[in-house]
Amino acid sequence: MIDTKVVTPAQDAKAFLGMTFPTYTHLLSEADLDRVIAVPVAAFVDGVPAGLILGAMPKPGNPAPPTLFSVFVDPAFRNQGVGTRLMEDFHKEVAERGGDVIRVKYMTGKEATAYFERILQKTGWEEPTPRMAAIKADLLQIRAMDPPWLRERRISPRFKIIPWSAVTEEQKQNLRLSHEKDHWIAEDLVPWMHEAHYDPVSSCALLRDGELAAWVINHHMRDGTTRFTCSFAHPKLQRLGVVLWLYKEAVDRAEEKGRRFGTWTVPLHHPAMHAFAMRWMKPCSVYCRETYGSEKKLTVGEG
Ligand SMILES: CC(C)(COP(=O)(O)OP(=O)(O)OC[C@H]1O[C@@H](n2cnc3c(N)ncnc32)[C@H](O)[C@@H]1OP(=O)(O)O)[C@@H](O)C(=O)NCCC(=O)NCCS
Repeated sequence: MIDTKVVTPAQDAKAFLGMTFPTYTHLLSEADLDRVIAVPVAAFVDGVPAGLILGAMPKPGNPAPPTLFSVFVDPAFRNQGVGTRLMEDFHKEVAERGGDVIRVKYMTGKEATAYFERILQKTGWEEPTPRMAAIKADLLQIRAMDPPWLRERRISPRFKIIPWSAVTEEQKQNLRLSHEKDHWIAEDLVPWMHEAHYDPVSSCALLRDGELAAWVINHHMRDGTTRFTCSFAHPKLQRLGVVLWLYKEAVDRAEEKGRRFGTWTVPLHHPAMHAFAMRWMKPCSVYCRETYGSEKKLTVGEG
């Protein structure tokens, strides 16, 4: 028999600690946190701990909506309706606490993704939409595809590609001033946000008439992967594809050092970057996961 109840953190949540992502286990030790109240609903089958759904309600003053973080069913009890029941009861809990909507973000590409999405579908969530792509690709394979952007090209003498380490403080300061005046850089791609511990091997910049006009700032990860962290070009140059000039430079430099893999995290609100990643990185990927998001509107008496 499937039974569910809200578990009280610290007292009876111990059996469920392994049933969520490590980032969220603290919600099982203390429910009343700074900005949220944890909502952990546990399932039992014939009295045995069988699953956990975990989310949180915002506290007054926190504009975030109620959020679902994870749902997990012990493998021994899967495909028997436990996950669905947990989701239905989570809706009820959130509705009873005054929530009228729940949001979720999740990563695809796992074995259970289809079952989780089936639960969303069955319990009235909106059709999930993609938010972000996370790709790890083999640079050698990309090179073997001989993509046009990795071929040699001649560029006008007005432009110069240099390593990011050679960009002067004056050029960076001029960029800040120019952005303060015209707000032309996407806020999440301003280079000064990403410069800490950048990879001096593959990070590079494009100067136009001596001024910073595009950049690719990367990080060298412990496992030897080059993470392409931030790339951007002045809007007037974007149609020339100048970021790709820098991608070529970065890939050439990474390969010279014998580095084979690159990772990209691409938000879908940068559609050109996403399309590029899907066209060239995905076919050579070690993994390609996308995060999706969905929303559930709750009605009074939700069940
Ligand atoms: C996703 C998960 C929570 C589903 O739990 P569950 O208790 O097996 O779910 P349910 O039994 O309610 O099944 C949900 C749907 O998926 C289907 N399903 C579940 N497991 C299945 C399997 N092994 N094979 C085929 N279909 C399966 C069910 O048939 C059901 O669809 P239906 O109603 O059309 O028949 C569980 O697989 C799990 O814990 N996975 C690991 C954690 C995870 O990935 N969580 C999701 C993201 S946080």
